[in-house]
Amino acid sequence: MSATATPNQTLLSVEDLDVYYGESRILREVKLDITHGSIIAVMGRNGVGKTTLMKAIMGLLPARKGQIHLNSEEITQWTPDLRARAGIGIVPQGREIFSKLSVLENLQIGLEARTDGLKTIPEDLIYSLFPVLSDMKHRAGGNLSGGQQQQLAIARALVGDPDVLILDEPTEGIQPSIILEIEKILLHLKDESDLTIILVEQYFDFARQIADYFYLMDRGSIALHGTADELSDESIKQYLTF
Ligand SMILES: Nc1ncnc2c1ncn2[C@@H]1O[C@H](COP(=O)(O)OP(=O)(O)OP(=O)(O)O)[C@@H](O)[C@H]1O
Ligand SMILES: [Mg+2]
Repeated sequence: MSATATPNQTLLSVEDLDVYYGESRILREVKLDITHGSIIAVMGRNGVGKTTLMKAIMGLLPARKGQIHLNSEEITQWTPDLRARAGIGIVPQGREIFSKLSVLENLQIGLEARTDGLKTIPEDLIYSLFPVLSDMKHRAGGNLSGGQQQQLAIARALVGDPDVLILDEPTEGIQPSIILEIEKILLHLKDESDLTIILVEQYFDFARQIADYFYLMDRGSIALHGTADELSDESIKQYLTF
């Protein structure tokens, strides 16, 4: 399914979302309004609930309260599989590459999210974005470096042809040269496609380079939000650790 929203319209929204682990309330009335074609940064210190929010958007954790809409359709009760096929892709924190499967087999898993029946990965597109994966397509995922695995995780999500791509801390534990490559690729995707990106980050310089809009989380709530122009570096950094 491809997005029917046009630029400057809301593609994904979260309203008053509460999520619990057991009896612990982790997310508190979280609201997001994500414009089609934008790059949104969700930032905050360890343990504030960033991954919990992304898992709730993917349908991996249930909402105790609140709603999630994609393209004006309520998806709050949808399964993760349905949400993936509706166009939400994720690059999970820690990458979750299948270490015994080859690079090609890892990429093929991304095909499951497609609704157009494509059965082979779009190799030209993927290898033009990530040439290193072309050289390594028969190598086991577990034999790649951390940076290469991160590129593979992004490529696998793109194989699913998402409308919204969630990246959960893609720079975590990655060397600076690969971070720069990832930055270039995300900016390229923003310019050359109508992909909408939700970037979960703690690395300020990286997020500052690419995000149009910021949400700063603190203890399960959105503590501050605004456009890249509206928010000063200092106002963002007060919610980060240095
Ligand atoms: N499986 C779980 N069971 C119980 N509590 C959990 C579980 N996973 C996370 N939590 C708790 O939920 C809170 C939010 O965790 P979450 O992983 O969403 O934070 P985060 O902002 O993604 O942190 P980080 O930057 O370290 O990835 C934390 O207090 C954490 O201890
Ligand atoms: Mg996390």
